[in-house]
Amino acid sequence: MTTLLRVDASIRQDGSVTRGVADTLETEIGPATTLRRDLGTAPLPSDTWPQAVAAAFSPEPDAAQLRARALATEVADELVSADAVVVATPLYNFGVPAAVKAWIDVVITDPRFAPGVPSPVAGRPAFLVVARGGGYGEGTPREGWDHATAYLKRILVDVWGLDLQVIEAELTLAPSTPGMESLIDLARENLDAAHATARDAGRALDTVGAA
Ligand SMILES: Cc1cc2nc3c(=O)[nH]c(=O)nc-3n(C[C@H](O)[C@H](O)[C@H](O)COP(=O)(O)O)c2cc1C
Repeated sequence: MTTLLRVDASIRQDGSVTRGVADTLETEIGPATTLRRDLGTAPLPSDTWPQAVAAAFSPEPDAAQLRARALATEVADELVSADAVVVATPLYNFGVPAAVKAWIDVVITDPRFAPGVPSPVAGRPAFLVVARGGGYGEGTPREGWDHATAYLKRILVDVWGLDLQVIEAELTLAPSTPGMESLIDLARENLDAAHATARDAGRALDTVGAA
């Protein structure tokens, strides 16, 4: 293993479940050059995507369009140069964080990721770490309300061809939310399981990288 791209999206540092589980994964993966794209603390400028799209259709892109295209090249370069990818994201408002959607959209403006072009990252290992404050399991009132995970799988697996493992922690709001007290033990089990899965996944990847 040589280069890991780590994409974070939580808007918090302290107590972030996704950052914590991704840290566990990164530690177990072992020695690697880690490229960090922290969309939680430094989202891509909101006009990057429209300006990069406009650049593609403009015979003489203006300065803003050229800047956007350069940033798109930079984020696509990060992805292309990664031997493995970690995307760590919370569920926000029943969907994917806007900063993650923007990152994906911007990557796809790069000609290497254009529709119909064979993915330059196909077959590479990737991990999606997702945290949800509530519970979305089968039979729960909110079953089907997580509109982030399926979308992210669609992009990471079906569009980019990554070899994806999903690591999920649910009920993360239980310890801090009145009315969720009865779910605290389950939340703790869930979190422990997510870290255990991350440890196993990181070790397995390290083994592959060392082979
Ligand atoms: C603005 C905001 C919106 C959220 N929306 C949802 C939501 O729709 N569903 C849910 O289950 N949890 C929601 N949460 C809770 C987060 O998914 C949960 O706290 C998660 O652990 C955050 O990731 P982090 O621990 O890495 O910061 C929301 C949290 C915030 C701050």
